Amino acid sequence: MKEKLQAIKEKALDRIANSENLDALNEIRVAYLGKKGELTEVLKGMKDVSAEERPKIGAMVNETRTIIENKLEEVKNRIASAARELKLKTEVIDVTLPAKRNLIGHSHPNTVALEEVERIFVGMGYEVVEGPEIEYDYYNFEALNIPANHPAKDEQDTFYINSDIVLRTQTSSTQVHEMEKGNIPIRMIAPGRVFRSDEVDATHSPSFHQVEGLVIDKNITFADLKGTLAVFAKELFGEQTKVKFRPHHFPFTEPSAEMDVSCFKCGGKGCRFCKDSGWIEILGCGMVHPHVLEMSKIDPEEYNGFAFGIGLERIALLKYEIDDMRLLYENDIRFLNQF
Ligand code: DAH
Repeated sequence: MKEKLQAIKEKALDRIANSENLDALNEIRVAYLGKKGELTEVLKGMKDVSAEERPKIGAMVNETRTIIENKLEEVKNRIASAARELKLKTEVIDVTLPAKRNLIGHSHPNTVALEEVERIFVGMGYEVVEGPEIEYDYYNFEALNIPANHPAKDEQDTFYINSDIVLRTQTSSTQVHEMEKGNIPIRMIAPGRVFRSDEVDATHSPSFHQVEGLVIDKNITFADLKGTLAVFAKELFGEQTKVKFRPHHFPFTEPSAEMDVSCFKCGGKGCRFCKDSGWIEILGCGMVHPHVLEMSKIDPEEYNGFAFGIGLERIALLKYEIDDMRLLYENDIRFLNQF
């Protein structure tokens, strides 16, 4: 028995010492210590050993088992650390390789233009607010003094959800929401998307953006309107920019005007950009109509104000010298990457 154990031990240790990988070690573990392993077989043979010999042999079997286990563990660690070392040696990181460039997006020209407009008005103490894109007829038309038979209410111009609810055709509806809140003075701009039943072409789209402006306070004059919008134009297009107001009609302002800026491309001499006129139209404006104030529960005897509406796409097209509005919506990366 003793000799047998001794032989098993030597054989096992020899095989372990010559193992080159963890799989081989595992095979050896099974072959000697497993359920049907050689050492286990020896234990099964214990019943044939005399009672006085049995504890001795038992102790020897255990000792052999421990020796084999320790050796297995030792070689296993050695193989593992050799493998780790090899990995460290061969897996080098070349820190001089050029990094993968992250593709970072950037703001859309419309967004850049809007941020610029917001920056200018916030700098003058205006608050930026928003109103709903789906709007009651009342806010989009009626409260803005646009009567039921007005051409803008024609189904050919307005998307109706039902007879009472529309997709707003102008951000002017936010004027009404702000006035109804009654927190006067008001100094706000309201950017947002508007909708009109227009065919798509180089200058039209069924969905585009406006920036509405509204000031309500005591003793506001047309001079305040002109001064504010002149400062805005200079900030946006450069210090040399001149402005010109042409009389116009909007139902919710009286008097009303359209504002032109001197062509920033030719300085007013006339070019392709300004269609040889030297001027470019950029917004509508006027003094808020007393009836509009009244409808929103503001006393026109005490308060008055001015309003303006800017076409955001127009600003973006002008600033970036883009000649087709459709480019702003197509999301062609080759176009957008230029900004
Ligand atoms: N809402 C007008 C439009 O869509 C633009 C406009 C003109 C807004 C004059 C105003 C304004 O606030 O005073 O054509």
